[in-house]
Amino acid sequence: MRVLRIETSPFPDQEPGTSGLRKAVPVFQQPHYLENFVQSIFDAVPELRGGTLILGGDGRFHNAEAVRVIVAMALANGVARIVVGQSGLLSTPAVSAIIRKRGAQGGIVLSASHNPGGPDGDFGIKFNADNGGPAAPAVTTAIFARTREITAYQIADGLELALGTIGMTTLGSGQVVEVIDPVTDYVALMQTLFDFDRLSALLRSGFRMRFDAMNAVTGPYGRRIFEERLGAPAGSVMNAVPLPDFGGLHPDPNPVYAAELIAAMAGAEKLDFGAASDGDGDRNLIVGPGGQVVAPSDSVAILAANAHLAPGYAAGLKGVARSMPTSRALDRVAKGLNLPLYETPTGWKFFGSLLDAGMISLCGEESAGTGSSHIREKDGVWAVLLWLSIVAARKQSVTEIVADHWRRYGRDYYQRHDYEEIDSKVANDLVAALRGRLATLPGQSFAGMTVTAADEFSYTDPVDGSVTERQGLRILFDNDARIVFRLSGTGTKGATLRIYLERFEPDPARHGLDPAVVLEPLAKAAAAITELAERTGRTEPTVVA
Ligand code: G6P
Ligand code: ZN
Repeated sequence: MRVLRIETSPFPDQEPGTSGLRKAVPVFQQPHYLENFVQSIFDAVPELRGGTLILGGDGRFHNAEAVRVIVAMALANGVARIVVGQSGLLSTPAVSAIIRKRGAQGGIVLSASHNPGGPDGDFGIKFNADNGGPAAPAVTTAIFARTREITAYQIADGLELALGTIGMTTLGSGQVVEVIDPVTDYVALMQTLFDFDRLSALLRSGFRMRFDAMNAVTGPYGRRIFEERLGAPAGSVMNAVPLPDFGGLHPDPNPVYAAELIAAMAGAEKLDFGAASDGDGDRNLIVGPGGQVVAPSDSVAILAANAHLAPGYAAGLKGVARSMPTSRALDRVAKGLNLPLYETPTGWKFFGSLLDAGMISLCGEESAGTGSSHIREKDGVWAVLLWLSIVAARKQSVTEIVADHWRRYGRDYYQRHDYEEIDSKVANDLVAALRGRLATLPGQSFAGMTVTAADEFSYTDPVDGSVTERQGLRILFDNDARIVFRLSGTGTKGATLRIYLERFEPDPARHGLDPAVVLEPLAKAAAAITELAERTGRTEPTVVA
């Protein structure tokens, strides 16, 4: 192996967002673009030299090439052991699990999560720290700072590694490249949390599930766990083969992009349980018989209320957390169970610190992510296994479990309206203008509702005291309604304005209404408060989630 030192110069746009560096594929295909960012990781995280690095991605277009480059750069930068998923595949939760199991110094995940793939799609790279979670803001800031001053990177030349074959290669330098089965360690971890015998009895009893892997990374995980280990009939996992362009699917498990699954649930087959995960396997969607979708904000609340039904959580939870824009359904469960509840900024890294400190055991977000102390990422397949455990223990359908939950705690009607690809300046101006008016809003009425409080969310991490500011503008109303405004940190084109609408309804007689109807006054108020149409020219969101 020969180490080359290649001269380069900085790219101005390598600031990691909510979830690493995410860009269109052609951006990553520019000479030196990936290499600059990877070298900046090695420079900002010196523990990797002499340490262990876990590497894998969701198999999207550019994954295989990027894996080869990163292995060569890791060797050139003195990483002692590189553990890479076979053919470059590892789900995000699996990377987190393997970092922790191996005591690695970190991991690199190649994914743009739920964004489309292919030559015109998106690609992404994210560094996870030795706790298995997305790097803390201090680390991502240091990586970004390095990208601004980089002048050269190191890369090994003349390597012939068979990354498609499981096995270990020891180089002359003593460095090791280990290619592992992407699924084995993850399944072993799941077996410590869930009663596989009980789940297997359920899935062999005639109960029929459908898991949509959306042609992305969870296909092999789903097949191994649901079909091979738990005995669900072959075909229970659909779209099970990871493809570089996801077969043209948009691997975002929401009602729009998982329409095939929802149609199957509503169809003649009379399926009992439906679920889907995203490109890299950290998000989840749960669907009941007939096609009823469980809102992610409800899902995390229901999981918290019932987690004790699975062996891994039988002793109860230490505390729970949600991101600020996630509905307050989880708060009601926390109150009912007398558990501490933390409200964090959007982004899984903020949960990591609470999980590390043992302050929470379960957490989740409105953006279809739920997870627990077992790893430091959200986990799609884990959420499905926990839901199945609850269904098995309660002997009720998803629909009945949700209805029971609302009867007990009330329903938080919820919707997120996204306005995508707004001009960045227009979006920033809209937020700045609203920020400037927050103090004047209390007492004013919009769409028949009166503002009782308005502020900008800022977070002080209770563990390390670090402060993260400007994490969303929130407005509370006299009818137990709330609107939150935020700009997405994961978009790749222009700006995405997210408007989160929610309203609490305690009366069970009013739990079967259409969220769009219940929340319409909030949507109107949001538009009026922000001068949305005047500023953006938009009158309708591009996505309703
Ligand atoms: C990723 C992160 C989540 C976040 C979501 C939406 O999936 O892991 O923590 O909630 O993106 O983030 P955004 O900044 O686009 O609202
Ligand atoms: Zn994801």
